[in-house]
Amino acid sequence: MPLILGIESSCDDLAVALVRDGHEVLASVVHSQDAVHSPYGGVVPELASRDHVRHLYTTVQRALECAGVPLDAVAGIGVTAGPGLVGSLLVGLCFAKALAFRTGKPLMAVHHIEGHLASARLDRDPLELPFVGLVVSGGHTALYRVDTLTQIQLLGQTRDDAAGEAFDKVAKRMGLGYPGGREIDLIAGQGDPQAIDFPRPMLREPGLDLSFSGLKTAVALEVGRAERRAGGTLPAGDRADIAASFQEAVVDVLVEKARRALAATGLPGLALVGGLAANRRLRARMADLGAELGVDVRFPPPALCTDNAAMIAAVADRLLREGRVAKLDLEAFSRVRLDRRPEGWQ
Ligand code: KG4
Ligand code: ZN
Repeated sequence: MPLILGIESSCDDLAVALVRDGHEVLASVVHSQDAVHSPYGGVVPELASRDHVRHLYTTVQRALECAGVPLDAVAGIGVTAGPGLVGSLLVGLCFAKALAFRTGKPLMAVHHIEGHLASARLDRDPLELPFVGLVVSGGHTALYRVDTLTQIQLLGQTRDDAAGEAFDKVAKRMGLGYPGGREIDLIAGQGDPQAIDFPRPMLREPGLDLSFSGLKTAVALEVGRAERRAGGTLPAGDRADIAASFQEAVVDVLVEKARRALAATGLPGLALVGGLAANRRLRARMADLGAELGVDVRFPPPALCTDNAAMIAAVADRLLREGRVAKLDLEAFSRVRLDRRPEGWQ
């Protein structure tokens, strides 16, 4: 029953978790930087890494206290080594290396997307492998075939913006806070999803690739039109209708692509993971798809959909079982493919 300490610092959230046996979350602590970046309307990389430096040690201590275990009880350390902001990644990686060196415990290098996909297994009754994984986050939107937590094949991905990025940019254009995805989710509940017929990108094309940049532009134009009609600021009713119609367009595309991926692979399970998996409309529509197709559709609880370290520890558990311990001179990478782990990551 190995206990793994996970560390995630790839972007603006700092997270530390303790996970037993690859799926039992004893503690999952997230130190959010939303307040640091919100005045700028986006993540400022230099501020992100500085904030990680300030809070990493205490966040590790908090996680150990929360789990009620001493550091001695930990069998290994898992850390996100890419992709992400290099400055942010390096803070977590250097800390994890030092901790592994000092304690003699094995260190495992985890790919951030492996982590998101593993979040579907953080359950007393984990989703059966193999499954189709749909990662929808602020930086990634892609479909994968997941055979094991470390054997993953890309099926299709966005050609431009990630879905979460589109949510955040639309939210910013409508004067909502940062990150705006959750705000759109809330406001959309008061709007009419049929009010505006926004484009459904890549639905007419065959295959599993996606695109959200054109939709984002269509929404920005619509916001401009509504503002001009009102002679200034966007009225609350228009804002709710635009949010709901935009959200519905994104959800339509994601549901259809998930349907195609399930048909193409014939797999019996679908994991919806990443920050956008917290979206209520997307969860409801994916659950409907699961019921319609008789497919086991899972989405983690919202706190495990957004960046967290429990998902990193889950992958590290698997890597440790496979004997794939990282070398202590491993490097962090801002971009790294899932199917080609860099030298030193193992
Ligand atoms: O996975 P995540 O925490 O970070 C990345 O790895 O990118 O995802 C963050 C993204 C942001 O774009 C945020 O606006 C979006 O997920 N998000 C949501 C919701 N909660 C978070 N988007 C729509 N509805 C939500 N409820
Ligand atoms: Zn993420």
